[in-house]
Amino acid sequence: MLQLINVSVTLEGDRGKVQVLKEISLTLENKKIYVITGPNGGGKSSIAKAIMGIYQPAAGQILLDGADITHMEIHERARLGIGYAFQQPSRFKGIKVRDLLSWAAGTDNPTDICDLLYDVGLCAQDYLDREINASFSGGELKRIEIASILARNLKVAIFDEPEAGIDLWSFQKLTETIENLNEKYDTTIVLISHQERILQLADQVILVANGRISEITSREKILEDIESLDTDCRCRKNCSRGGRAVAECNR
Ligand SMILES: Nc1ncnc2c1ncn2[C@@H]1O[C@H](COP(=O)(O)OP(=O)(O)OP(=O)(O)O)[C@@H](O)[C@H]1O
Ligand SMILES: [Mg+2]
Repeated sequence: MLQLINVSVTLEGDRGKVQVLKEISLTLENKKIYVITGPNGGGKSSIAKAIMGIYQPAAGQILLDGADITHMEIHERARLGIGYAFQQPSRFKGIKVRDLLSWAAGTDNPTDICDLLYDVGLCAQDYLDREINASFSGGELKRIEIASILARNLKVAIFDEPEAGIDLWSFQKLTETIENLNEKYDTTIVLISHQERILQLADQVILVANGRISEITSREKILEDIESLDTDCRCRKNCSRGGRAVAECNR
């Protein structure tokens, strides 16, 4: 179980200090899927980075199975079983896909490595011996990074917008893979996403805006909220009915 207790993070930006997280409290249980969603710039990736140790909290505590990991380094947290697939993956220059995944999985077994690539919709034959470099497309890199997280038997696996840049066919495979991970292991899965299909996987949905948790709710409730959203402006409705009240529209 992972707990964040009143975690606040302040960063040094171009225009001075910015408080990106404000008193975040969360309890994330084993074998559950959490989806963090909310507006751009709300603080979703910052929560992931605070959990991973990339951002150090100015206040608050982070506990993994009751042990205080608030001031631990990234590599120590990784060793304890926390993994984060970045929103924008870095390019592990010069490493072959086979070596990266073997290292992450702790095995050289070719079948295991092929399965990992298959799970993210990549054909092993085409990728195993390719060196990761600038020739990889954004979607390919994203999928290889996700595979490297899947390879590790993690306590907490965080995927930041796993759907970004991934085609519809691979996306279907990816959602099945996440469901399988959830069925097979006790991993706490955190998905940061704006995608309805990903929201449908959630045991709990965490809505983050302005650096705070604004709501913790069910997938049913959030999907209902989305359906009832009135995103159409009034003047357009009026216009399509032949009305002339455009000047009154204030949206
Ligand atoms: N290193 C930094 N220095 C200053 N401000 C930062 C830094 N990193 C993030 N921020 C700011 O913190 C806020 C939250 O950023 P974060 O990346 O967590 O948002 P997000 O919810 O993941 O957004 P998105 O949906 O666009 O990915 C943003 O306003 C961002 O500009
Ligand atoms: Mg983000």
